[in-house]
Amino acid sequence: MIWPSHGSNPQYLYEAMGLSLPKHYNDFSANINPLGPPPILKEKWMEFYQEIFVYPDPYAIQLKKRIENLEQVPVESILIGNGGAELITLVARMLAGKRVLLVQPTFSEYEKACQANKCEVLYHQLCEPHFELNLDELRAKLAHVDAMFLCNPNNPTGIQYPRSTILSIIEECKMHNCLVILDEAFFDFLIEYDSFIPYISKFSNLIIIRSLTKMFAIPGIRLGYLVAQPDTILMLSQLQSHWSINTIALRAGELCLENESFIKLTQEYINNERKRIFEFFKKNEFGVSSSNVNFYLLRDPFLNDQFKLFEFLLHKAIVPRHTFNFPGLEGRWLRFAIKGCEENNHLMEVLAEWRHHH
Ligand SMILES: Cc1ncc(COP(=O)(O)O)c(C=O)c1O
Repeated sequence: MIWPSHGSNPQYLYEAMGLSLPKHYNDFSANINPLGPPPILKEKWMEFYQEIFVYPDPYAIQLKKRIENLEQVPVESILIGNGGAELITLVARMLAGKRVLLVQPTFSEYEKACQANKCEVLYHQLCEPHFELNLDELRAKLAHVDAMFLCNPNNPTGIQYPRSTILSIIEECKMHNCLVILDEAFFDFLIEYDSFIPYISKFSNLIIIRSLTKMFAIPGIRLGYLVAQPDTILMLSQLQSHWSINTIALRAGELCLENESFIKLTQEYINNERKRIFEFFKKNEFGVSSSNVNFYLLRDPFLNDQFKLFEFLLHKAIVPRHTFNFPGLEGRWLRFAIKGCEENNHLMEVLAEWRHHH
């Protein structure tokens, strides 16, 4: 069976399963803010239209200035990307032919982008069931690689690494002349998070990737940014195609990043929903990853392979994210986004029905 490589677009998942896509379904497979995009985007939409007949600013200076203010990092240290995905691709291109370490299970694009650039990919496995990172074992591997990707909080587990762990990895990597690519695509869902951006000036081996598509629910627009020391930014920008980020994305990004209250509202919403559904899972004996963000891994501990549960949910028009292409998970968990209250209730009802029969 050929599984879709990502969540969202559930028609491909139903097709792979030989099922027809239900008319109405509840898609839990993409980790997007359930509150939708900030309302200001809709209000200003027609203003965006005025700008589509000019080329976008290839240096994205207005958006960079906004990020400079927000993150206290100079514009020379910022690169805007056509989604975090493009930035991952650019980094992998810069690493062509090098040895790269991945902490698994994690976002599959790191591996794909590295392999496309003929990197030698090495792995470090997190320890189930709690997905802990064995720092001593990881350290031993760092002397032998040119770069490592670390996703914090990690996709697909939703777990945040301790701050001290990340710092000691960055320091250890610096000693070995190894680059650390810290992917913070979901950092803004964490209620408490001290950014690593202030460390950019100290560590020439640190690259931070951010995405605007998750928090601001704009995956269709494609927007992210990368922070690193200016010479790294220069190298990466030379690999990027001119006008890679369209005008609508630039304008939308400027508006989104003004929305501190929207972020706070989302964090509280997600936190309350997560507490509510995790109580249900505990009561009904489902295993979950101790996520701090807007998605989590779930398994029925009475099954090894979760395929039967997966199939049951698809028949009920509930779309989880399969984990067959996450090395180290191989289908033993399912990933769900935290969605709106009604959709989460629907998921709990269907899981209660499953539990009743199994
Ligand atoms: C960890 C992580 N990083 C980066 C991305 C890419 O996000 P985008 O290209 O939509 O900004 C994703 C998307 O799922 C992700 O999960």
